[in-house]
Formats: sequence, C-alpha cells, structure tokens
Amino acid sequence: MRTQVGIVGAGPAGLTLARLLENAGIESVILESRSRAYCEARVRAGVLEQGTVDLLREAGVGGRMDAEGLVHHGIELQFDAERHRVPLSDLTGGRSIVIYGQTEVVKDLIAARLDSGLPLLFDTPAERVDAERGIVRYPDGELQCDVIAGCDGFHGCCRGALPAGTLREFSREYPYGWLGILASVAPSIDELVYAHHQRGFALLSLRSPTLSRYYIQCAPDEDLGRWPDERIWEELRTRTAVDGWTLEEGPILEKGVTGMRSYVCEPLRHERLFLAGDAAHIVPPTGAKGLNLAIHDVRMLAEALIRFYESGDKSLMDTYSETCLRRVWRCEHFSWWMTTMLHVTPGNDPFDLELQHSQLRYVTTSRAQAKALAENYVGLETV
Ligand code: FAD
Ligand code: DHB
Repeated sequence: MRTQVGIVGAGPAGLTLARLLENAGIESVILESRSRAYCEARVRAGVLEQGTVDLLREAGVGGRMDAEGLVHHGIELQFDAERHRVPLSDLTGGRSIVIYGQTEVVKDLIAARLDSGLPLLFDTPAERVDAERGIVRYPDGELQCDVIAGCDGFHGCCRGALPAGTLREFSREYPYGWLGILASVAPSIDELVYAHHQRGFALLSLRSPTLSRYYIQCAPDEDLGRWPDERIWEELRTRTAVDGWTLEEGPILEKGVTGMRSYVCEPLRHERLFLAGDAAHIVPPTGAKGLNLAIHDVRMLAEALIRFYESGDKSLMDTYSETCLRRVWRCEHFSWWMTTMLHVTPGNDPFDLELQHSQLRYVTTSRAQAKALAENYVGLETV
C-alpha cells in the first residue's frame, strides 16, 4: 500500500490529523491496533479548550459537539470544605471550555472518516516503523508513505523509531493515581469542582445532564477489587462535602484506575516520522490538557504538511518540533502545578499541606493568580 501520509493510531490525534488532511486534499491511511468498538468505548478526557472546539468545528466535525456539548464559564476550587469559583470567562476575555467526552469526539471523527470512504484499518497494529524510508510494517503487509505521523499514544511503537542518540527524555512519576467512575445520575454540580482534602484529591465532573464523571485520588497501582461502589461514594462524599450540599448517587457504569506521570521526548521528529499527542508527551490529568495538546500538535502538523504539498516549502516541517514543544512545556508546567497543589502526598507531610493551603488561598483571592490559572485552563492563544 502507498499513501502520502501514513497515520499510526486512531485516537483523537490521528483521527483529527486525517480529517484536516482530507479537507486539504491530502491522502492518508490510518492504522489502528484496536477494534472500532474498543476505540469508541474508551472513557477518557472530558474538557475541550476553546481552541480545540474551534478546530473541530472548522474541520466540519463539530455538529454533535455543538448540539450536545455543555459550555462552562467557570470551575470551582474546594479546600477546607469551602468552594471558591474561578470565573474562567471573566478572566480571559470571554473564553470558555466545553464539556464533551473524548469518547464522543472519537465517535464523530470515525463516523466522518468512514462516511468519506477513506481508509481506516482497525485491528491492524503497526509493528515496525522505518523513519528514514517512510515505511510502516503491519502483520499483513507494509505501508509506504512520504511522511509517517506517529499518533499511537504513550504505549505505541513509533517513538521507538527515534534514534537513541538524538532522543532526550524527561519524566516524573507521581505517587498517586486517579480512580474514575462514570455514573448514571444527574451531576450534583453546575461546574467542575477540583477538591483538596486531607484524605486526597477529588474531582466532580460530568458528561451530560444525566451522566456524572467523578474521580478520587488513589494509589498508582490501586486494586479496583478493593473499591465496591459504596466505598467509592463514601469517599467522594467525604472529600467533597460542603455545608448545605448533597452528592446524588446512581448506578456506576464504568470504573478504572489511571496512573499519573509527566513525560516529554525531544525532538518530535526524525526524518519522515513526526510524533504527535501522547506518543510524544504525557501530562497528569489534573489540568485537563492531554487531549487538547494532542489536537494542537496535529493542527501544527497539518499546517506544515499542507504548506509542503502546496508549495514544496518544508520550513514548517523543519520547525514542527520546536513549535510544538513550546506549548507542550507550558502545559507540562500547568499540569504539574495543578497536580501538586491539589493532591496529598502519601504521609500527609504537614509542610506540603501548609504550602498547598497557602497557594489555594492565594489563587482564590488574587485576581492575577486566578487569571493565570484561567488562561492556562481555557488554553493559551499564543505560547
Ligand atoms: P491515544 O488516545 O492514546 O490514541 C492512540 C491510539 O493509537 C489508540 O487508539 C491506540 O489503540 C493506538 N495504537 C497504539 N499502538 C498502536 C500501534 N502499534 N499500531 C496502531 N495503533 C496503535 N485530556 C484532556 O485534554 N482533558 C481531560 O479532561 C483529560 N482527562 C483524562 C482523564 C483520564 C482518566 C485519562 C486516562 C486521560 C485524560 N486526558 C485528558 C488525556 C487524554 O485522554 C489523552 O491525552 C489523549 O487520549 C491523547 O490522544 P492521542 O490520540 O495522542 O493518544
Ligand atoms: C475530566 C478529566 C480531567 O482530567 C479534568 O481535569 C477535568 C475533567 C473529565 O473526565 O471530565
């Protein structure tokens, strides 16, 4: 098989890139190791930045997002059993976020790709990538391409094709993870609540007027077997309690544990191979940045490839890595900052707790601090 752009991975990065290329008349083939049903059932991110929303809309895949997504103008930070609103839109000249599950974004992009009759091969894992020659090997054959987009997530194979001599890796593991649930109950909150509590962080989020998405800090390798539904609700109630408010409960439809890490590899390009999204960098989820960063990478990559195919000009391809990494490091910092401000380190070090309280008080009383949080949360226009 031959194509202009071979895309490894049908997550948000790979599917969005394919759509942007399609709109510009550039050919691509997507190889995805999992089945369509698996990709469409994976529950992950929920917060779309303004820039992500605009891009999906411009790409012609924003119809259902516009109809069903929930626009939010603020979030709440909770500590010492009190909530403090951060008015995102007031602090950012009217920018906002949209709550629309990554699962739905992926479903919309897959449907658009298949409607266009373009190649998206499920159950087809890339096994080896040759960055110099532009070849992707998979079990039944090989794909020959001008350019390979490595959009295969953190555990994919593309990053391994960067030569060890040029690769720099930066990483940090956190001593905690998130236990997340999707529950069939109307959300008890109007806006997301990020709660600091001595027993650990909790996050109240949502997916729709009838679906709630809640998280609690847990051990990175937490055994879900130790968490019957009643224990999860109990812990959520304790960590998010404020006077005069009740957490409504309902059947839990899905639960899972996610470890947390920060990771960046540099550069994002070698010869014909360009990495995008989680294949190149990971952020802990507290800042809601991972999906948005993946979409930003492929926006840059699409622009670079469109310029190249239109005029033979490779300049944006040459600066791709440097351009993306500026935003990547900004989001790495923001995600690390949110994470360390809100999570309790095992052992409840009193010094750490005092620093966290001081920072939370500062962020919720200083307009300058709140503005910095808001700008990063809704997504910086320029980095
Ligand atoms: P992925 O979504 O990982 O997609 C990679 C694809 O490649 C997968 O489909 C995989 O099956 C496929 N693949 C892997 N190996 C191969 C191979 N060898 N051959 C072919 N295909 C392969 N981000 C936010 O922005 N906001 C949030 O609110 C948020 N919340 C999150 C909550 C949780 C619990 C988690 C786990 C993550 C969250 N994130 C959030 C992060 C976000 O989900 C990821 O950053 C995002 O999925 C990255 O997209 P991607 O396309 O780069 O990678
Ligand atoms: C969700 C996930 C996040 O990581 C976050 O910071 C906010 C919301 C969510 O899944 O709804």
